Amino acid sequence: MAYYRINGGKRLEGAVTISGAKNAALAIIPAVILSGESCLLENLPEIEDVRIVEEILTSMGAAISRTPDGSMRIDPSGINTFSVTGKMVSSMRASYYLLGALLGRYKKAEIALPGGCAIGQRPIDQHIKGMRALGADIVIQGGSVKARADKLKGAEIYLDVVSVGATINIMLAAVAAEGQTIIANAAKEPHVVDVANFLNMMGANVKGAGTDVIRIQGGRRLHGCTYAVIPDQIEAGTFMIAAAATRGDVIINNVIPTHLEAISAKLMECGVTVSEGDDGRDFFIRVSADKRPRAVNIKTLPYPGFPTDLQQPMMALLATAEGNSFIMENIFENRFNHVPELAKMGASISISSRTATVEGVERLYGAPLCASDLRAGAALVIAALAAEGESTISHIHFIDRGYEFLEQKLRALGADITRIEE
Ligand code: UD1
Repeated sequence: MAYYRINGGKRLEGAVTISGAKNAALAIIPAVILSGESCLLENLPEIEDVRIVEEILTSMGAAISRTPDGSMRIDPSGINTFSVTGKMVSSMRASYYLLGALLGRYKKAEIALPGGCAIGQRPIDQHIKGMRALGADIVIQGGSVKARADKLKGAEIYLDVVSVGATINIMLAAVAAEGQTIIANAAKEPHVVDVANFLNMMGANVKGAGTDVIRIQGGRRLHGCTYAVIPDQIEAGTFMIAAAATRGDVIINNVIPTHLEAISAKLMECGVTVSEGDDGRDFFIRVSADKRPRAVNIKTLPYPGFPTDLQQPMMALLATAEGNSFIMENIFENRFNHVPELAKMGASISISSRTATVEGVERLYGAPLCASDLRAGAALVIAALAAEGESTISHIHFIDRGYEFLEQKLRALGADITRIEE
């Protein structure tokens, strides 16, 4: 098992380039199944979760190869199974996209119930409600979701909760359903828009992605295409927070600034300097700080609100703010597993139901830490970079799932971080 050793207290300085968006990639790769033709996907992040989906699709009969620049060519024409129930599938949340993609293409699918980070109950009732509305028979049996339809037919679907996963999954099945589907109360996250753009690039007709009503004219013939995934909003936000936490000065290249407005606004409220620019090729954001942040309050919300995926990293920053911050986690009921770890470093945080009260302390001190999930791991890395002294972080396989070359990128910014393989 690998772990990180971090000697904290070094200001992050320099420039970092953001990779492709994990959550867009994890939906777009299975969505290739819908066309039945070969697609070339560019700007995919080299992360464990992408490798897992690649392996799942290969095990199903898809032919996948890499071009020299790292793009992925996927030819799904050899897929010869609709049943994917191995451990790999159940270990990964985003495997639920295979349900929408297989049901759309082949009208049948059997998928192990998804796992993923332990941050709450994470039901998939809205996915199932959507597929049923499109005409699928669905049963849950023996730890798997089994779906089958003679024919998929467009429908009006109102989501009871704003769910990224359900919005995308229903979109995938709906492009193969005859007639119009309307998804109301849809999620508006950047990766929902990215998946819709990809589907349209394959010949689908999806309108309204990025608003809370998405209209899909289904039943069109799809074809292969070349598509570049958007930059990762959460990776960018993680580096922005790390820059602020280490009182650093970092230029974050290859970002879409509008995707980062909630985080930029919060950092500025903390007294951090955030500016946007365009170097003629890409947009960038520059984050600099030279003192303790001011305490701020945060409520996680669906996009364009403050993202739940950055709640944990932001808490690592606010742990050393001047004053008390209140952080309300509205999306996942159990996303505070990082708190006892931050407490080991001297943070003063109490939790009552879904709200954490963070009493800012002057500084954190290095400690032996354990990552409990992907973004908790990111939070601990940020806290360790900012802390005085040495920290170790175990269970970094969680971090590998979602951050490309994290330690290399941090080292290039001046961090003292080493990965140790045991
Ligand atoms: C996705 C992201 C995850 C991010 C989250 C919220 C992927 C692979 N993961 O997760 O990184 O933290 O969006 O931005 O893209 N819910 C239901 N029923 C459902 C589906 C969801 O009640 O059928 C609830 C969830 O428990 C949660 C809320 O809706 O409370 C939002 O979940 P959702 O947006 O679906 O998150 P995921 O797609 O799992």
